[in-house]
This record gives sequence, structure tokens and C-alpha cells, in this order.
Amino acid sequence: MAYENIRLEIEEAIAVLTIDRPKALNALNSKTLQELESAFNSLPTTVRALIITGGGDKAFVAGADIAEMASISSAQAREFAALGHRAFQTLEQLPIPTIAAVNGFALGGGCELALACDLIYASEKAKLGLPEVSLGVIPGFGGTQRLTRVVGKMRAKELIFTGERLDAAKAKEIGLVLEVLPADQLLAHCKAVAAKFLKNGPLAVSQAKRVIEFGADQDLRAANELERQGFAVLFGSEDQKEGMKAFLEKRPAGFTGK
Ligand code: CAA
Repeated sequence: MAYENIRLEIEEAIAVLTIDRPKALNALNSKTLQELESAFNSLPTTVRALIITGGGDKAFVAGADIAEMASISSAQAREFAALGHRAFQTLEQLPIPTIAAVNGFALGGGCELALACDLIYASEKAKLGLPEVSLGVIPGFGGTQRLTRVVGKMRAKELIFTGERLDAAKAKEIGLVLEVLPADQLLAHCKAVAAKFLKNGPLAVSQAKRVIEFGADQDLRAANELERQGFAVLFGSEDQKEGMKAFLEKRPAGFTGK
């Protein structure tokens, strides 16, 4: 499918999705959100890791599109938020690992997009934050909830109440990004991390993600039950047989994802 505001490139089972509206610092208007949702829903099954980054040299995504939001009603805002939530939930629930390569401003909806990915790496130029209160609103694509789960309630309140932008080093310090890389090494780093996932059993990686994601919102007993089920299910796979046989035969495993 041809997209206007995003680009999808696939190389050796790793997809790189670039949000590409550099004139508006890749701001998320309805069209871009619809394209994202469609791209997440139609990723080829051969793709085993997804990296999301921003086009141009300034921004990952500078937020939801303020020009589009400026004059909408509450009812329209509800629809707009529903679209963003749907797209980001689809992303969060993909059965493959996802990485945000934050190459510049990741503000508002951009920070929320990164938070819907499994891992966040940032370039030295990155600036992250949720400045919505400076516009008279609050985060609308999951930021109040996902940021809180990543950095804790008090830190999330500080960031959301102040609307302050963090530089990459500070974002790393509070656990909002995993690593900070020189700008020209960010994408290569993310691809190298994704390549490490690809060496492992795809069903196992997918099951690990499912159990962590769904378990995180449950109490420990229920979450551990999810783990037990996921562990057991994998023993019905060819990959489990191959992985353990390969270990015992002292050779690399040849996983097939079956
Ligand atoms: N929406 C629409 N357009 C945007 C935008 C956004 N979020 N962010 C930047 N742009 C546009 C600017 O309007 C400008 O367009 P023109 O050239 O046509 O004037 C262009 O991108 C370049 O931006 P600046 O000239 O502002 O660039 P700068 O380098 O001076 O500043 C910036 C960069 C600090 C990121 C600044 O653009 C900025 O503060 N952007 C808004 C950030 C923000 O508030 N994001 C939250 C949005 S609300 C939200 O996301 C709600 C939600 O949770 C769902």
C-alpha cells in the first residue's frame, strides 16, 4: 500500500518505519495515525522486529498535530484520541519486538508513540517530554498511563505537570530511554539490537513479550500464571525441540518459528 506520511522499508526481517512529514516535524495528524494503524495491521509475517524513527534531521515526532487539533470540538477530540489509542495499542500488541529510535524531538504524541514501543533508544540530540498542559490539554494517546508505568507515578507527574523537555541524558537517567547514541549511530545500534532478537526462537520472543505486556497489568499471582501457561505452550513447538537439541549437540539452533 502507498503511504503519504510514512515509509516502510524491510531488510532481512527487520522493518524500519519512518514517520516522514519533516515540514511539520513529523506531527501526527489523522492521516498519519491512520497510515500507522494500517501499517501495523498489515506488516508482513516475515517481519520479526520493527524500528520506528522520524524523517528529517530534527524530530522523531513533535506531537499530535496542533494545527488539526486547534479548532476541534470535545466530540471530535474523543474521536482523535480514540484513533491514536487504537493505533498505539495495535503497535503495543504486535507479536514482534518494537524499538523507538528517537532521533530528535519526541514530544506529546511523539513521546507517547515511543512509549508504546518495547524499547526506546535515543540520539544525543533527542528531547523528550509531554508538554500538553502548556497547550491547555493533557496527553491524549496514552502518555499519562504508559509514562507512569515506565518511570513511576511521581516522576510522571513532575514531567506532565511541568511539561518540561528532557535531554537524552536526563531521559536515560530516569529510565525513559535505554541508551543514548551519537546521532549517526542510532539506527545502526537499533538494527544491531534487533538482529540479536532474530537469533532467538521467534515464538519464544513473542511469548515473552505477550507475558510481560499482559502480566504487567495484573497482580503477581495472575501474572505468574500467565508465565506458566506461556512456558508450557512453547513445549509444543518445534523451536523448543530444536533449541534444546542444538544446545546438547553444541551447535547453533536453526529456528523456524514453528
Ligand atoms: N503540530 C503541528 N505542527 C507542528 C508541531 C505540532 N505538534 N510541531 C511543530 N510543528 C510545525 C511548526 O508549526 C512549524 O511549522 P511552520 O514552519 O509551517 O511554521 C514547523 O513544524 C517547524 O516547527 P518550529 O518552527 O516550531 O521549530 P523549532 O525548532 O522552533 O521548535 C519544537 C521545535 C520545540 C518541537 C516546536 O515545534 C514545538 O514546541 N512543537 C510542539 C510540541 C508540542 O507541544 N507537542 C505536543 C502536541 S499536543 C499532543 O501531542 C496531544 C496528545 O497527546 C494527543
